[in-house]
This record gives sequence, C-alpha cells and structure tokens, in this order.
Amino acid sequence: MELPWGMLLLLVLSVSSSSSSSAAVATLAVSAPPPAPAPRHAQDAEGLLINGNFETAPRKLNKTLIVGRHSLPGWTLRGHVEYVSGGPQPGGMFFAVPHGVHALRLGSRASASQNVTVRPGALYALTFAATRTCAQDENLRIAVAPSLSAPADVAVRTLYSGASADTWAWGFRASSPVAQVTFANPGVQEDPACGPLLDAVAIKELPTPYPTKDNLIKNAGFEIGPQVFKNSSVGVLLPPKQKDTTSPLPGWIIESLKAVRFIDAAHFSVPEGQYAVELVAGRESAIAQVIRTVPNRAYNLSFAVGDAKNGCHGSMLVEAFAGNVTQKVPFESAGKGAFKAAGFRFVASGVRTRLTFYSSYYHTKASDGVSLCGPVLDQVKVVPLPVKA
Ligand SMILES: *[C@@H]1O[C@H](CO)[C@@H](O)[C@H](O)[C@H]1NC(C)=O
Ligand SMILES: *[C@@H]1O[C@H](CO)[C@@H](O)[C@H](O)[C@H]1NC(C)=O
Ligand SMILES: *[C@@H]1O[C@H](CO)[C@@H](O)[C@H](O)[C@H]1NC(C)=O
Ligand SMILES: *[C@@H]1O[C@H](CO)[C@@H](O)[C@H](O)[C@H]1NC(C)=O
Ligand SMILES: *[C@@H]1O[C@H](CO)[C@@H](O)[C@H](O)[C@H]1NC(C)=O
Repeated sequence: MELPWGMLLLLVLSVSSSSSSSAAVATLAVSAPPPAPAPRHAQDAEGLLINGNFETAPRKLNKTLIVGRHSLPGWTLRGHVEYVSGGPQPGGMFFAVPHGVHALRLGSRASASQNVTVRPGALYALTFAATRTCAQDENLRIAVAPSLSAPADVAVRTLYSGASADTWAWGFRASSPVAQVTFANPGVQEDPACGPLLDAVAIKELPTPYPTKDNLIKNAGFEIGPQVFKNSSVGVLLPPKQKDTTSPLPGWIIESLKAVRFIDAAHFSVPEGQYAVELVAGRESAIAQVIRTVPNRAYNLSFAVGDAKNGCHGSMLVEAFAGNVTQKVPFESAGKGAFKAAGFRFVASGVRTRLTFYSSYYHTKASDGVSLCGPVLDQVKVVPLPVKA
C-alpha cells in the first residue's frame, strides 16, 4: 500500500513532537483542554498548525461525526464537525481533499480552533484549503482573537480552480503572544451537516515591506506573501477587502468583490522572482497601493503584464490608475507564459497617491470554461522623475 505524502509528513511530525515537547504528548493523551497553548512546530517547513492537515484522527467518532470538543488532536471543536475522507461520497458528492486524505467538514455554526504562539505586533498570513460540500454557496469565517483584524468571511465556491479545492490566505496582525485561530461555518442549513471542508491550515510570519530609494512601491514584486503549499498547483486566493496593513500580501490592498490569486514560479509562469499575482475576476478583482508622493511632482510607473501559462488564452487588458492618469495595457495571451513591460508618467496631486490595477475582461480556462483566470501583474515600480529646471 502506498502511504500518501501527507500521512508520512504527519508521522514524522508526531514522532518529533513527542520527543521534543511533553506538553504536546499531554494534549494527545487526555481529553481535557490543554493548560497552555501548544507551540507551533518550528520544524515544519510549510508552517502547518498542529494536525493542520487533519491526518491524525479524532479519538472518538460516531460514523463521521467527531464526538467531544477535544477529541481531535490539536483542535478545539464546536457543533457538528465531521471527519471526512476525500473522494466520492454517499449521495453523489465528491469531496476534493488536496492535502493528504482527511479534512474537516464544518456543519451549521460549527467551528474548529487552535491556539498558536505569535509575536505581538507581527503580521501573519494563514493559508488554508477549503471547498464547499453542498449545492448552495457556503462561507468560511476566519477569526483570530485577540488581533487587530476583524473576522472575515470567505465565499467558498469552486469557481476558481474547477474541480479541485481552492487554497486561500488571510492576514492578521497579532496583538498578544497567543492567538486563537478559529475557522467557522457562519451559516445554518437545513441539513446540519452541510458546510465547507477545511483542509491543510498553515501560518507564516511576514516581514513588513518598506519602499526603497529605487522604488516607492512596497513589496513591488509580490515576493512577500502567504505560504504556498509545495504540493499545491492552484496558487493561493487572496480574498477581497483586505487592508494593506494586515493583507496577506503586505503593502497591497485587495479591493472590491472578488479574490486575486497569488501564484508561484514552481507552478505558474511568473515574470520575475518567485511570485506574482493573477487578476482572476475582471473588474471585481483589483489590487491597490497607496504611496507617499510630493504634490505636483512627476513620477514614472512601470510594471509587467503577462499570462500565468495556465491555459488562460485570449485578448487581455489591464487597467492601471495612478494620479491623473489611466492606462489600458493590452496583452494577447497564448497561454504560454509570456509577459511585456508597460508604464507611464503621472503627476501626483497630493501627499498620497493610490495606484490601482485590474483586469478589464473576465477570462476562464480553455480546458474547462469555468475556472476563473486572467492577466498576471509583477514588477511594479514607481520612481520620481527629475524636477525640470
Ligand atoms: C486558547 O486561548 C483562549 C483565549 O486566550 C483560551 O480561552 C482557551 O482556553 C485556549 N484554548 C486552549 C485549548 O488552550
Ligand atoms: C450516533 O449518532 C446517532 C445519530 O445522531 C445517535 O442516534 C446515536 O446515539 C449516536 N451513537 C453514539 C454511540 O453516540
Ligand atoms: C502531492 O501530489 C501528488 C501528485 O499530485 C499526490 O499523489 C500526493 O497525494 C500529494 N500529497 C499531498 C500531501 O497532497
Ligand atoms: C496630468 O497632470 C499634468 C500636470 O498637471 C499634465 O501635464 C498632464 O497632461 C496630466 N495628464 C492627464 C492624462 O490628464
Ligand atoms: C520611465 O518609464 C519609461 C517606460 O515606461 C522608461 O522608458 C523611462 O526610462 C523611465 N524613466 C525613468 C527616469 O525612469
């Protein structure tokens, strides 16, 4: 029998945790709440939380229903939470479990939480895989307490990656040494078991980016971002309405209604470095940054526009806004991972200037006609132009 990779990882993790931390052993052995927050596994290169891919089984199950709030190692549960295996289900559903074989299904108002040790003041991104299980739209609510970020609801649909589960990231700034991370299903369905699947939860601390003398844009090449699972080829969706100070893409605001996708060079074509963003939802998927400027001074904005080599074909158009200028940059995508440089000069009207980028058109992958995709943006640069004598 072939053991899935996640299972092997978990075995390694549980062996190393029992040798390095007696607190972790106590958590596994008793069903009372552990006295102190369990430390994160520093040795886990992907930043998974304890039992973050749910491959360690609950101590008590009634069929698929997890019995007991502290039955699932590493997690505290509330409400109707099922322990499910990926693949075809009774009733004709198919559950895509991208990491290992097990996932949690959060029923009506159910939740799963874990305490993690963090550095107060530091910025973190949580990465998690999620997918819906019933016909209707489902939401997954992420909350971190205490933190300086309000809870956010992610609409778990399958529009972004077709049949596979999507991976999402959400950012927060810690305000105490222990953060309680909670994933909840805020909805109530007729079938109390209905709700999103949660799989593979990881955390990554992110440095705060600053503008440099050569570039006023922070995190200009999108190189600072959330954990991307090595084994995941779908990128990481960044949900909308995220502020630049707590965004999983530090420095950048994710505006409007839909997500942008954070893509990695291992699985996509990226113009420069390891990461870029793909504007996957037309005008509903914009990213922006506010920079400091000198009123009436002229600046040069430049950026790269391309395609992610993910089967997204057609005539693309990226609209860029800065100061008093709007520019439309056309890009013909053959889906082969090409890119081109674009840019323009703008004059700042105030001490702050907002730069915004979005895709004018909606695109879907040629292979299935439903998975959203779009133009790639990278290498954003703003330099002040010399003042004319
Ligand atoms: C997690 O932290 C919260 C808030 O600090 C606390 O109330 C709760 O008991 C902790 N849970 C566990 C399992 O340690
Ligand atoms: C298992 O769940 C069923 C249905 O909710 C319930 O009737 C039954 O008593 C449960 N069994 C145990 C052992 O808890
Ligand atoms: C990683 O990807 C391979 C190939 O797609 C797959 O067989 C394996 O199950 C995956 N492992 C995990 C942990 O997702
Ligand atoms: C922007 O402002 C500058 C200076 O006021 C002006 O020269 C330029 O034509 C303006 N550009 C547009 C597109 O309005
Ligand atoms: C401004 O950008 C254009 C391309 O958009 C480039 O040709 C030019 O050299 C840039 N000027 C400066 C001073 O960076």
